[in-house]
Amino acid sequence: MWTKRSLQEAIKDRMKDYRFIIASNREPYIHEYSGKKIKCVKAVSGLVIALDPVMQASGGMWVASGSGDADSDVVDKHNKIQVPPENPSYTLKRIWLSKAEEDGFYFGYANQALWPLSHITYEKPIFNASDWEYYKIVNRRFADNILDEISKEKCFVWLQDYHLTLAAKYIKDKKPDAIISLFWHIPWPNPEVFRICPQKREILEGLLSNDLLGFHIHYHCHNFLSTIENELEAKVDWEDLSITYRGHKTLVRPFPISVDYEGIAHQARSPEVEQAMQNIPDTIDPPYEILALGVDRVDYTKGIVERIRAIDRFLEKYPQYQGKFVFLQFGALSRIHIKSYKQLIDNIQAIAEEINWKYGKGYWYPVVIRNIRLDYASHLAHYRAADLCLVSSLHDGMNLVAKEFIAANIEKKGTLILSQFTGAAREFSKEAILVNPYDPDGFADAIKYSIEMSELEKKERMEKMQQLLEENNIYRWAGKFISNLLKLE
Ligand code: F6P
Repeated sequence: MWTKRSLQEAIKDRMKDYRFIIASNREPYIHEYSGKKIKCVKAVSGLVIALDPVMQASGGMWVASGSGDADSDVVDKHNKIQVPPENPSYTLKRIWLSKAEEDGFYFGYANQALWPLSHITYEKPIFNASDWEYYKIVNRRFADNILDEISKEKCFVWLQDYHLTLAAKYIKDKKPDAIISLFWHIPWPNPEVFRICPQKREILEGLLSNDLLGFHIHYHCHNFLSTIENELEAKVDWEDLSITYRGHKTLVRPFPISVDYEGIAHQARSPEVEQAMQNIPDTIDPPYEILALGVDRVDYTKGIVERIRAIDRFLEKYPQYQGKFVFLQFGALSRIHIKSYKQLIDNIQAIAEEINWKYGKGYWYPVVIRNIRLDYASHLAHYRAADLCLVSSLHDGMNLVAKEFIAANIEKKGTLILSQFTGAAREFSKEAILVNPYDPDGFADAIKYSIEMSELEKKERMEKMQQLLEENNIYRWAGKFISNLLKLE
């Protein structure tokens, strides 16, 4: 069993001669002004949930772009700061993007081209030539900042996600002995989908500059190998799961990402969470007997609209639950300068209002939308208080909300309704209630089944999921990834 301590020891023992650097676009801690005071908040991101405990265990450095309005006021002259604020244990090095760079790189190429291309949720990717230019500039900036840190040393660089597909190539051009890997946090699409990307050759060549490439599940590794077979003249070894391109070998491996099970379960028992639980009934407006919860970044891939449509169908098909069932959706806003995200926020609100009008009676109405970021104690308290957690992504690499819900469910009375199109569904295929978010009728029946399930069945399902999660925790994920890196020495 991997624990924070065993990961710490493994890193201390086996990586002592190496510089260990992680890089991602999203920074783990953001400094923001609140009036004249500066507060530090943790980013809302699956990537941060997963990697922050790993970095706390390993020390090392995390390179990311600064995004808070107070970020530049708290770093030293090398743009560095120790985090987390309450227990400084690793270095965050911030890089700075101009508005135009952020627009082209982040809002443009990363999130309007690569994001929809990889998720296949019928949102058309936009490939804009000037966005691509900014994407290259920013990837080079990341590479240069990493190179500044590793000039003479042996190092492991661990890049994160679709924002940094070119960085490995830029680093290897200057430091060929650097050991570089990338973990792809979202799905990899099938070759028929990927082939429309006008910059596909540069992206694939960039990715193949890594020594190790990780995806959540076998299916995405398989899609990647097939994509390479279709697009490049490379040797694809299906047995070894590796690709050799222009004399360089890249290993491709599945590493299902996870959460700090023990840490979350421990926190969920804390007095702060107990207190936050007491407050919940006063903060939810309509009276309820059954509480269903959704927690997401507001993103079209998360299937929030489909979830509310399924609730509509559920209340229509099973009217005995009108007046008793309330669905509470927490949505953290992100990427709001992109048109489709703005439209989504309005669309969710409009559908919720429509359904509340259709069913509302007296004080009761069924859908509560809160576009706020909860503090951590309230976040865990809601997981504990909910009877059901609804995760209905149209496509998701893993989905860590599902895993956080399981870890926080210390009473073992909650039920997880989980989209079959998430990576997590592969791990909890028998214990969660799987749904197809495109099928409102089936989804409605799953809600009914989950509510009417016996207490014993709920407990057994939750216990099994907790066991699986305890074994396959975030330390195991990181430990396995790092063990694979060490084999590359
Ligand atoms: O998990 C996928 C991901 O894109 C991460 O890379 C990212 O940190 C997270 O979702 C949140 O997205 P953003 O950083 O664009 O707010």
